Amino acid sequence: MNIAFIAAECVPYAKTGGLADVVGALPKHLQAMGHQVIVVMPRYSMINGDRYSLRWFHGPMGVWMGDTQEWCAVHTADNEGVPVYFIESQKYFDRWGLYHDANFNDYADNPRRFGFLTRAGLQLCKDIGFQPDVVHVHDWHTALASAYLKIWHWNDPVLGNAASLLTIHNIAYQGKYPAHHMDYLGLQWGNFTPDKFEDHGAINFLKGGIVYADMVNTVSPTYARETRTPELGYGLAPYLNDRGENYIGILNGCDYAQWNPETDAIIPARYSADDLSGKAICKRELQKRFGLELAPDIPIVGVVSRLVEQKGLHLLAQCIEGIVRDMRVQFAILGSGDKGLEAFFGELPARHGGRIGSYIGYSDELAHWIEAGADFFIMPSLFEPCGLNQMYSLRYGTLPIVRATGGLDDTVRQYDEATGDGTGFKFYEPSARAVYYTVGWAVSTYYDRPQHMQRMIRAAMAQDFSWERSATEYVKAYERAIWNKHRL
Ligand code: ADP
Ligand code: GLC
Repeated sequence: MNIAFIAAECVPYAKTGGLADVVGALPKHLQAMGHQVIVVMPRYSMINGDRYSLRWFHGPMGVWMGDTQEWCAVHTADNEGVPVYFIESQKYFDRWGLYHDANFNDYADNPRRFGFLTRAGLQLCKDIGFQPDVVHVHDWHTALASAYLKIWHWNDPVLGNAASLLTIHNIAYQGKYPAHHMDYLGLQWGNFTPDKFEDHGAINFLKGGIVYADMVNTVSPTYARETRTPELGYGLAPYLNDRGENYIGILNGCDYAQWNPETDAIIPARYSADDLSGKAICKRELQKRFGLELAPDIPIVGVVSRLVEQKGLHLLAQCIEGIVRDMRVQFAILGSGDKGLEAFFGELPARHGGRIGSYIGYSDELAHWIEAGADFFIMPSLFEPCGLNQMYSLRYGTLPIVRATGGLDDTVRQYDEATGDGTGFKFYEPSARAVYYTVGWAVSTYYDRPQHMQRMIRAAMAQDFSWERSATEYVKAYERAIWNKHRL
């Protein structure tokens, strides 16, 4: 099969969250199964051309928008065998950030930037004669491709046969913009109706994508069920329900080439389930790095997260000082995002020296250190489409403490105090009280039932969420998308 990915992020070039991990990893696994895959993404100015051996590839490339033509250049790089194409446009991608400026203000022209990226991705397929069987698009940024294939390219020799799969990584971000962008985007006003793009007078990219895509999926089975309800569908549940069995959940894989304590070159020492001595070294180094009391027998709870409401860290903020007052436990926190939460977590070490360490910012290195050195990893998410960090934690023998939602519920098995079975600690109520008591449950297990801890660590490290399984499910979804497209 020929598969064209068009996406806003891709590891290792540009990342704000798990979307980039998925777009970086899935194509490699599809390629290994014998499929031809290309990835198209923006050439953001922060992507270092030398570091990633980017080469000029094509251009100037003209891209027709609804009411004008844009011009760009295309660079390319090889991502372990997968060709990645970077759309260079000074006008749109030569900026400080991916989606917003340094003050977290979204760029006002985001609908144009990503509408343009999407059209450029399709144009590139035409220019290089890459005839996709499936165009795989991700989140609102590139969801419009599903519509373009049907309203612009239905008769095109290169794109006319292409089916589309839309993957929703997070339904809270839908891409809602003023209606006047319709002309530039070339979506045709006949599509500006409530059953397609129109949403309370605005254009909703994701909604239109859901309606037009040949198949739609999200990144875990539980989140697929949850988004079909008013509580977690963020207004789109009726449209997802209309898609019936053409809306499914496929759990993300975990990239064990990057996240495996036996081979991880970033962490201070390597270890395996049979020999955890390296984990003790990682713990000691983590305590040093985060200014924590150097004690091997105090459990550490780790956090690595975007600091946004979704992640529920305001619940932890409400109870963390009570936790360190009442329990013998330490925290190592890494995150960035919301300014209020940044200030709060950033100032905690000054008040609780030795017990709470934090680093406000983005650091892949520290993310690995926390996964390896902590005993527990907490994710109190209000919702979580899949979540990757709990999967990394399991592999590092760092037991997850999670709210039972979305992919967290699908990947973590509840601790059974009678038998010692399970891989983590789950709670249900989205409250600070539930966070407090569940951390307490984990900490008491650490001190009072060490044999259960050992058993859970073993079970956790043996979990296998490898990409091979997810990639096989994606191929089935592609086949269904193709079937759906040609059935009509
Ligand atoms: P989301 O995509 O919603 O942020 P995921 O759990 O799917 O959640 O993916 C988050 C990814 O981003 C993980 O790879 C995680 O390690 C990484 N990450 C998040 N915040 C940071 C940070 N401050 N520093 C380093 N890595 C981070
Ligand atoms: C989103 C979700 C996260 C998921 C990631 C990759 O950012 O918030 O749960 O793991 O996408 O699919």
